[in-house]
Amino acid sequence: MADNTNISSINTPLAVVLIGCGRVAEKHLKAISKLKGLELKAVVDVNPESSKRLLSSVKGFSNVKTYSDYKTAIDEIRPAVVSVTVPSGLHYQIARYAMEHGANLLLEKPMTMSVSEAREMFELSKKTGLKIAMGHIYRYLPIVGLVREDIAEGKYGKVTHGTIYVRWGHGEDYYSSAAWRGTWKSDGGALMNQTIHAIDLLVWLMGSEPEEAQAMIAKRLRNIEAEDLGMAVLRLENGALAQIEGTTATIPSKHTAEFSVFCENGQLSMGLDSGKPHLNILSVKPNGKTKKMNGYYIRKQFKEGGLFSYKCALNPHLGIYKDLYDSILENKDPIADAYSGFSSVDTLLGIYKSAKEERPVALPLTDDFDSTDMTGFFG
Ligand SMILES: NC(=O)c1ccc[n+]([C@@H]2O[C@H](COP(=O)([O-])OP(=O)(O)OC[C@H]3O[C@@H](n4cnc5c(N)ncnc54)[C@H](O)[C@@H]3O)[C@@H](O)[C@H]2O)c1
Repeated sequence: MADNTNISSINTPLAVVLIGCGRVAEKHLKAISKLKGLELKAVVDVNPESSKRLLSSVKGFSNVKTYSDYKTAIDEIRPAVVSVTVPSGLHYQIARYAMEHGANLLLEKPMTMSVSEAREMFELSKKTGLKIAMGHIYRYLPIVGLVREDIAEGKYGKVTHGTIYVRWGHGEDYYSSAAWRGTWKSDGGALMNQTIHAIDLLVWLMGSEPEEAQAMIAKRLRNIEAEDLGMAVLRLENGALAQIEGTTATIPSKHTAEFSVFCENGQLSMGLDSGKPHLNILSVKPNGKTKKMNGYYIRKQFKEGGLFSYKCALNPHLGIYKDLYDSILENKDPIADAYSGFSSVDTLLGIYKSAKEERPVALPLTDDFDSTDMTGFFG
């Protein structure tokens, strides 16, 4: 097995190969184009037209090589970074091959579709020292990191509970745009695709690990194999409860998502409503009155992160690539690290298992569970 040797000549830009030239890939290219420390060497897609379309959609990449086979691209280029942006059911095989050939990863969510494979990726990262930065975009939004630090340091007292909703409507056109969408094998449903990174964020902010999941899932509107609506409650190790709603069975032009964390001495909500961010952070003063903290966090974020952190609000992948680059150079874990990839897959599959077996499920899962174990759930 190769070690982290590809990055020894660190004063030249790190070579990047991106695999999977579909919808999300453009956000990756836009981010790479803004970072001097990264150089896109090749893109890979089984469909050559998709590679061409992607390269022509972002300025500055006209000389980038194209491949249709990811193994050939990795073998020839030996990149320091591989970006995995293929359908979710293919993440594991490509991510594993890339790490076995010495590459660090920007791995899209979900890390894998099975608990054992996610654990293997996490262990491989620990063993080799190669970094995995997950596509958990919400961790990279401005203010989120500052809020997390303050919750962790006890500024708001005991965390009682948290909630998220992700109402990310998608119509039949979205699901019929690619055969893998909405299938148990390659995608999962609204929870696995649209909600996993929000679950990751909520648990991260609440500062404790999930120890139990209870869930129900349903198929209300969309003609897919997996769920278009899921609701779950998690119990965390610190006793706090987290409530989750994730759905694509809402109006496609009205995407809304919000997370809230409730504490003894404060409550924090952030969200997006049709692309517009909203924020409401309240702290309870010793006299019992509440104080709005929005301005404090906005000023602090600007002082510490400058404009760059606000650019990440428009394209959080910019923050992920910058963080991955720094993590490689400084040999530290990325903000959305390999553990977050494993843990969120474990929680999500625990939610599916609970829905399937109609009972609470202990986390982390002790036996393997795979998204294909849900096959036939809706008949
Ligand atoms: N973090 C985020 O905000 C975010 C947003 C959207 C999608 N995603 C994730 O990104 C991944 C891709 O999603 P998408 O919407 O871009 O999908 P997509 O279907 O638009 O694109 C996937 C691309 O991969 C290509 N592909 C398939 N098999 C391949 C192979 N063996 N080798 C090379 N290329 C191959 C397809 O031809 C297609 O062009 C999914 O895992 C999804 O969950 C993350």
